[in-house]
Order: sequence, then C-alpha cells, then structure tokens
Amino acid sequence: MSDETLSNLLKEDRRFEPPAEIADNANLKAEAYDRAKQDREAFWAEQAERLDWSQKWDRVLDWDDPPFAKWYVGGTLNAAYNCVDRHVEAGRGDKVALHWVGEPVADKRDITYAQLKDEVSQAANALVSLGVQTGDRVAIYLPMIPEAVVAMLACARIGAPHTVVFGGFSADALASRLEDCQAKVVITSDGGYRRGAPSALKPAVDEARAKAAGQGHTVEKVLVVRRTGQDVAWDDDVDVWWHDAVGAASTDHTPEAFDSEHPLYVMYTSGTTGKPKGILHTTGGYLTGASYTHWAVFDLKPETDVYWCSADIGWVTGHSYMVYGPLANGATQVMYEGTPDSPERGRWWQIIQDYGVTIFYTAPTAIRSFMKQGREIPDRFDMSSLRILGSVGEPINPEAYVWYRHVIGGDRTPVVDTWWQTETGSIMISPLPGVTAGKPGSAMTPIPGVSAEVVNEAGEPVPNGSGGYLVLTEPWPSMLRTIWGDDERFKDTYWSRFAKEGFYFAGDGAKKDDDGDIWVLGRVDDVMNVSGHRLSTTEIESALVSHPKVAEAAVVGAKDEDTGQAVCAFVILREEAGDGGDDIVAELRKHVRKEIGPIATPRQIMIVPELPKTRSGKIMRRLLRDVAEHREVGDVTTLADSSVMDLISQGIDSGK
Ligand code: WTA
Repeated sequence: MSDETLSNLLKEDRRFEPPAEIADNANLKAEAYDRAKQDREAFWAEQAERLDWSQKWDRVLDWDDPPFAKWYVGGTLNAAYNCVDRHVEAGRGDKVALHWVGEPVADKRDITYAQLKDEVSQAANALVSLGVQTGDRVAIYLPMIPEAVVAMLACARIGAPHTVVFGGFSADALASRLEDCQAKVVITSDGGYRRGAPSALKPAVDEARAKAAGQGHTVEKVLVVRRTGQDVAWDDDVDVWWHDAVGAASTDHTPEAFDSEHPLYVMYTSGTTGKPKGILHTTGGYLTGASYTHWAVFDLKPETDVYWCSADIGWVTGHSYMVYGPLANGATQVMYEGTPDSPERGRWWQIIQDYGVTIFYTAPTAIRSFMKQGREIPDRFDMSSLRILGSVGEPINPEAYVWYRHVIGGDRTPVVDTWWQTETGSIMISPLPGVTAGKPGSAMTPIPGVSAEVVNEAGEPVPNGSGGYLVLTEPWPSMLRTIWGDDERFKDTYWSRFAKEGFYFAGDGAKKDDDGDIWVLGRVDDVMNVSGHRLSTTEIESALVSHPKVAEAAVVGAKDEDTGQAVCAFVILREEAGDGGDDIVAELRKHVRKEIGPIATPRQIMIVPELPKTRSGKIMRRLLRDVAEHREVGDVTTLADSSVMDLISQGIDSGK
C-alpha cells in the first residue's frame, strides 16, 4: 500500500455506533475485554465449556515447550458429536442445519440436524469399511455440495484428519498435497456446476493419483459422489461410488472421544517458499476458538438467525465459519454451490431474500465487484432480514465497507471486518457488533481472549499513529500446532522473527491509529493476496520456470481494482527459445493454470531481457512492482547493474 493511500485511510473519520437493539442483547459485552485480560486462562476455560467434553481437561494451557502449545490438556471430545449429535440429543433434531442451494435454480435441499447425524454416521461407517483408521489422512476434493460437509464431519468423527483441497486447484497441486500428507483415501465427485455448466473433477483425481504413485505414494481408495452424472473413467480396484458405500451403510455409529490435541485437519496454504505448508489444527482448542468467535463476533442467536458465509469449503473460512463454528453452535445456515452471478447477477441477494438471511459473511473482492455492477441489482431485493455483515480475507477499502453497510445492510447493520489467518484458525481481530463503534477499513481491536500488538523491528510496541509488524503476543486455543511433518519450518516461519519476545509473526503489516485501533495493511512478505486467496510469489515463479522455454521468472503482486492484488510476472526466456513465438504469453499463462490452478494465472506476463537484482543476487521485487503498477521506478542504487531497469522499461514499451 502506498504512503498516500495510507494517509488517506487514516484520515477516515466516519464512525458507526452499534444499533441499540444489538448492543442491548449482545452475546458479548464490553466487560469481556477486561475479564479476559485479568485471567486469560480462566476466560478460555469458560469458552471451552461451550463444548461437550467426554472427559474434562486438567490443565487449560501447556506452554512449557513454546512454540508447541497444548490446550485443554487431558480433555477428550469428539468434534462431530459436538457439531451434530448433541443438538439432536437436546431435542433440536428437526432444526435445519443446512439450507443447501445448488447452482441450477431448482436444485435445493434442506438438511436437518437429525438428517445430518444419520448421513455423517453412514459416511463414518463407510470410511471405516474402506479401511480408514484413526489417524489416517483423508483428502476431500469436492464442490460446495452437502457431501463436502458430511465428509469432513465423518472424518472428524472417526479421528481421521481431513485435508480439503480447493476444487479449483489443479491435478498437480492436488498430487503434491496427497503426497505431503500421505492421504489414504480421496473423496471427490464426478464434477460440479460452474456458471451453468457441469465441470469435471474426477479426472484431476485420477491424474493426481497417478502422479502420486509415480512418487511412491499410493492412494488406496477414491470415494466418488455423483453430482452431475457426467461420464467418468473407473478403476474397479480403487473407485467406489458414494451412493453405494455410504448409501448402504448403517446410520448407527458411536463417536469415540479423542484427545483434545488429536489432529482434526491439515489445511494447505501458500508460504513464502514454493512448497505449500500443511497447517495442522487439533480438536479441542480449534473447536473452542471456532465456536466462541462465531458466537461472539457474529452475535449468533441460534434460535432465530439464518447465517450465510459465502466462502468455499476449500479455504479455512469454509472450515471455521461454515462447518465447525456454526454447526458447533447449532446454527441454521445457507450453503451455496455456485458463483454469485449464475444464472443472473442478483443470485446472492435472491438467496438472502428467499431464506431471510440475518448474518452474511463475505470477502471485499466480492463486495467490490458488486459495487461495480451498481446498486440497482441488490436494490431489487428485500434484504431487510440482515442484521450483521462480515468481511474477511483482505483489507476492506473504506468505500467498499460503506457501500456494503449502506446498500446491502440498509444502514442498519454493523460490519465486522475480521482479521485472521489459516494459521490462527479463528478470528483474532474484529469489532464486536454490539460493542464497537466501527471505523470503515479498520479491524479495530483483538477480541476478548486474544492479544495482539503492532511492533517495530526490535519487537517493541509502536506508539499510536505509527505502523509496524502485526504480532500475536500470547498463545490462543485455535492456533496452528505445527506445519505437517515440519516442526523446524513451523518455528522458522512464525516464531523466529521475534523469538526473544516469544511473539507469533504472521507476515502482515499494520498501523495503530490515534485511538490505538488496528488497520491491517497486508502482507509484508512474498505472499500475495488475490481476491482474498493467498498465493506465493515463489510458487508461481517455480511454475513458470518449470516451462521449457523459461530461464528465469520474477512474480509480484500489483494493485488491482477488482482483485486487490493481481499476479504480474516478469520472465526471461532461454536463449534457444528465441522470442518464444507469438503465443508465448498465452502459453505461459496456460502453463501456470495447469501447474497451480486458475486463481494463480498471471494477469500480465512481461518478457524481459534481465531482472533487477541486488549485489547478493536477490530480486528487487519492489522495482518490478513499480513497473507493474505504472509508477516511476524507485531507488535503484542497490542494484548490481542499474541499467537493468532501463532495459526492462524499453522492452515493455516496445511491446516485448
Ligand atoms: C489477509 C483467511 C486485512 C492477511 C482468513 C492475512 C486480511 C491473510 C483480513 C490470511 C482482514 C485476512 N483485513 N487483511 N480482515 N483477513 N487478511 O490464511 O494478509 O487465507 O495474513 O486466511 O489474509 O489469509 P488466509
């Protein structure tokens, strides 16, 4: 973010007080901040009481060997039981858990908690009969259909950590995740619906399985949901239809209680190196964090609210705020399969109107695209049921915040701008809808129980009005426990920069305003944020370099009006490739799509003769960002060869 944008941001002086009705009935009131500060562990023990434990813990936090935390030590519980069975046992079996809305308009299904319990039990039994044992990893590669939720909960129920891979990722990306966590079984579907047309998924699983086999890893079974009915290749030794295996299984399944620290899932996310990191979350602490924050930050009233989070299940937001948080809280929610503009641009607002959605959680990139289409579209719908709006994934521009509140929320609804990460497991910094006077563009303050700071290079808190690095200064229950199979990388990545202080550093820069409220500015490392999706520059560079015509590549995230940041690549071709041919740019874009997936496709690829490097050989991405954002190129004095930037600019001007 440029200095100019920053100072504009901090001039923002609009404030939105909580509406009296929400303030009066708020789940969490202002006193909670102090209470949590006075005795953090007692506060977190109180939050864990939200769950049903088979055996209660004997110690809230074990931080004897930092940064390896254990929460609710000695406690045992079953996550699926907490998300499903206990609501049925409490007489709420007939309550709708999921209003599932398919992309084809007539395709919808309401699933009660009792039905969900039966399906999860059947799927758990089916997984056991396919040979899945407690501790085995199961990969899930599915569109947004109810079976995705059922599959996740079935894994949790038998203690088999799941790893959900976003359906938009390529076969190669899937293969590397299958190998990294050694997944025994993959749950997928023939395909899914995307903008009105069926698109295939199973072939990517077949390809990934073959690829993993080439690397010595065998996926034993593939469980396939029939969604679109399209033809699929079939291997009788491996492939099993969901409707056969799950359909035939018993609805009786007794959930076993697992240790609080039993692995619940691994979620891969981009880091600063090429290899995605498997973020490990465990059971008791994670579920406590997801449940508590979903209740507190969205002020959930499970009896009356209809909640909708538009995130895909392949991202952490889908895990914490579509599956574990809302279901642990016994909420009724909407789950939508498709894109916002299918079959027409008002589809989301139609869904809010049809189901009387009261709490809506989405990403700034979506809000910006609706803003661009104009308010006439949402204005056609009655969205007076909405009472709270949420935002996640990237900094929300003040204008987008105000538009969201005004046009979608009819000026009644607090907007909670929630900052958190795959690694944090649940929301860390956010307004509370019944307490905080919101400022457009600010995530405001750490929620009760969480302690965050903005610090300088030396790890000292910066004064109000200054910027620095965002850190979390105390452990929290839903924190990642490690990177799957790589404790050293876990320590290096998150705990080494401020090791002396013992702070968790997650790669974001932030500023404290004059009131001490926090404005998250975005990544300070080589991670980009495109439409709220994390992408690693190195990962895309590696993908480009794996193309036979490419000698070297540098990738930067350039500011983009629609997607926040966009991928811009600078590529040096190999000599023998000549000028690469007329279609070189299209060819390279296609290659990145194949290697990683459509979300990583560069907006722009520039073929250049050289890259700007320091004397120690480090690429100066800052200068490339200047080029990509059409700014005058900044200070070049640390370049090994300062004429390089001229060469690059000339090359680009001449269209090469
Ligand atoms: C960014 C998504 C500003 C941030 C839950 C973080 C945000 C990364 C916000 C994590 C927000 C997320 N304001 N930036 N409200 N929420 N971010 O792991 O850079 O996909 O580090 O988790 O998104 O992305 P992740």
